[in-house]
Amino acid sequence: MAETEKISIKKIISSEKIEKRISELAVQIENDYRGKKLLAVCVLKGSIIFFSDLIKKLDLLLEAEFIQVSSYGNDTVSSQKADVIKGINSDISGYDVLIVEDIIDTGNTLCLIRDMILEKNPKSLRICTLLDKPSRREKDISADYTGFAVDNIFVVGYGLDIAQKYRNLPFIGVIEDI
Ligand code: IMP
Ligand code: MG
Repeated sequence: MAETEKISIKKIISSEKIEKRISELAVQIENDYRGKKLLAVCVLKGSIIFFSDLIKKLDLLLEAEFIQVSSYGNDTVSSQKADVIKGINSDISGYDVLIVEDIIDTGNTLCLIRDMILEKNPKSLRICTLLDKPSRREKDISADYTGFAVDNIFVVGYGLDIAQKYRNLPFIGVIEDI
């Protein structure tokens, strides 16, 4: 029995559906950023799989950066505050920055990240998120590119975790009865 079969995870978005949607987002992003100096920013840790699958599909001369803030800890409740674990140290003033997030929930984390990047005066700043939970929003923030909207449920897989587990699932699912 595979490790992941020990608990019940209900698949809500298949890997095929994710791949197809990422291809569509990549076409849009390619069209919008052709000829620009794109800096794609991966928000660790949750975005790693989405980020790597997305940038592989972009036929652009982009650069990649990685940032990490702590927000969720090991539970499923959003925190209002987040600490910066890894920021961007280089000069990004000439870059068209695209933040690549796994999910926008309350929006608190992304607000902090957005403000942190805006302080460094990028040429432009946009947001791409794989998942969006608009019903949970506490801050006025939205993405320019969204993969899928999801209801108010806690999802795992494809980079998203619960207590650091299940990031490696190739699909997005919900843990039944947590
Ligand atoms: P926010 O600050 O409430 O918007 O939370 C954003 C961060 O919380 C995301 O980048 C995720 O890392 C995490 N998060 C929010 N919802 C979920 C979920 O359903 N599953 C796993 N992680 C989540
Ligand atoms: Mg995240």
